[in-house]
Amino acid sequence: MSQIPQTLTHWLIDAQRKAGGDSVMLQLLDDIATACKMISHEIAQGAMLGNLGKAGSENVQGEEQKQLDVIANDIFLAVNAQAGHYPAMASEELEDVYVVDGAAEGKYLLLFDPLDGSSNIDVNVSVGSIFSILRLPEGADPSQAAAFLQTGVQQVAAGYALYGPSTMLVISVGQGVHGFTLDRNTGLFYLTHPDMSIPADTKEFAINASRARFWEAPVKRYVDECLAGKTGPRGRDFNMRWIASMVAEVHRILTRGGLFMYPMDAENQAKGGKLRLMYEANPMSFLVEQAGGAASTGRQRIMDVAPTGLHQRISVILGSKNEVERVASYHAE
Ligand code: AHG
Ligand code: MN
Ligand code: MN
Ligand code: MN
Repeated sequence: MSQIPQTLTHWLIDAQRKAGGDSVMLQLLDDIATACKMISHEIAQGAMLGNLGKAGSENVQGEEQKQLDVIANDIFLAVNAQAGHYPAMASEELEDVYVVDGAAEGKYLLLFDPLDGSSNIDVNVSVGSIFSILRLPEGADPSQAAAFLQTGVQQVAAGYALYGPSTMLVISVGQGVHGFTLDRNTGLFYLTHPDMSIPADTKEFAINASRARFWEAPVKRYVDECLAGKTGPRGRDFNMRWIASMVAEVHRILTRGGLFMYPMDAENQAKGGKLRLMYEANPMSFLVEQAGGAASTGRQRIMDVAPTGLHQRISVILGSKNEVERVASYHAE
């Protein structure tokens, strides 16, 4: 008999057996996978479905929404509401908490960035979806943002879908990071990247260099030292990448290491940074730490930050551990 790789569903059943307890996590992640498959289809059809371009609206972040931001958000809400496990959800694209009808008994909260990197949509470059699952705290009112304002270390699961040359789902339930690839023929996700891990050292970094004039001194110092190459203080040549899709960036780092930075700078300081703590920084930090990397604001571990608002923004420096620690040490000096 020929060997076939393990499907996501069978992997989840296995993981549940090992962990004991009920099958809720299995159901939650299976629904996430369904939503991501549907979004993947919408993205892959692109212009043929008339999905590209602007939606003509603005979100709470003050960003112009793309049609696919709205479509992906609607899919995430509709699919994940069905089983009744989430009394409420929160999204980058929604100003307020979304209360799910008929799910008052649900014990979990879902937070998501339905489409990450949406500026890349019209140019057919990789985008993704990011999610974070929290427990509803005992006695908390799920319709209030306060129920969601938990530190990153309290996440029970997190992950992303990457809509690239192939569609992948990368998840962690707190026991390592595992990647699954979508087979478009069977419509199933197969385990292709078990136990993803980030090497501690790297020669690759990612930052939007057009913002250099706004950077704080520690970030400027780090990048200058990398750019100096072999004859500089680092004694080696570095390579730079910037895709402008955090999901694609984190996926590269989970695959071959690297450092990703979207730091707070003089221009975004009033907002706290660019990336969102609850939908981007925390779930990605959970994955990165689970894979042996590190994630810091420069001054603090991201997952220890006590959130103050659903749409809070934050400085993000993540990836290969020794490089993250180096940037943090420059901040401490
Ligand atoms: P989103 O599309 O969900 O609003 O997020 C975009 C984020 C992230 O994916 C990426 O790292 C960054 O914004 C890109 O920023 P620049 O446009 O400044 O390069
Ligand atoms: Mn956005
Ligand atoms: Mn995003
Ligand atoms: Mn988004």
